[in-house]
Amino acid sequence: MGTDKETRINYSDNISDNKPIIIRRCTLEDLEAVIDVNERELPEDYPYFFYKSILDNYPESFLVACDDTGKVIGYIMWRVEKTPAIHSLKLINKGHLVSIAVLKDFRRLGVATALLNNSMKSVKKHKIHEFVLEVRVSNYSAINLYKKFNFTTNSIKDRYYRDGENAYFMTLKP
Ligand code: ACO
Ligand code: ZN
Repeated sequence: MGTDKETRINYSDNISDNKPIIIRRCTLEDLEAVIDVNERELPEDYPYFFYKSILDNYPESFLVACDDTGKVIGYIMWRVEKTPAIHSLKLINKGHLVSIAVLKDFRRLGVATALLNNSMKSVKKHKIHEFVLEVRVSNYSAINLYKKFNFTTNSIKDRYYRDGENAYFMTLKP
């Protein structure tokens, strides 16, 4: 698909340094680093083949953020799911946010915002009916981030996580 250009984000509000962060598509070579970020920052981890299948199927919305040395400091991945529409046999597409994370040292700089903005454009091209995601009810930062994008809480998924915590099921019409 067309342009594969990188996005550079600059931090006017970041006093300590203003080194650029690059947002670009994930490659096969990035997967180990993506898994490393996931394992550091989230309790949910997935096997390698899971990341690989997301990359194979939805490469245009699997993005990484890299620091000035090229190190992966964040990622986002989506998949598109076909589900039956309510009251109809018609199948509709939903853009499901599978996972997003940013390393602690790079938080609150707008990296997640840039990852979401850039990837949602690509997900939209699948003619999706809505964006959906689950988030731990205790995950204040992520819930705030999603609210900033106008996601709203559709329902609570009881004991959604292995440790028994509930999830908010949040949705957004594109
Ligand atoms: N406290 C309150 N609000 C926050 C916080 C925080 N610590 N961090 C982010 N936000 C909200 C704010 O509204 C913020 O806007 P503002 O800075 O203008 O106030 C907005 O999110 C955007 O912040 P970004 O700088 O773009 O977000 P960041 O790059 O720091 O990443 C993220 C946010 C991904 C939630 C990060 O904290 C993280 O990696 N957490 C651990 C992993 C995680 O929880 N991922 C989501 C799991 S759910 C899922 O993947 C479907
Ligand atoms: Zn999910």
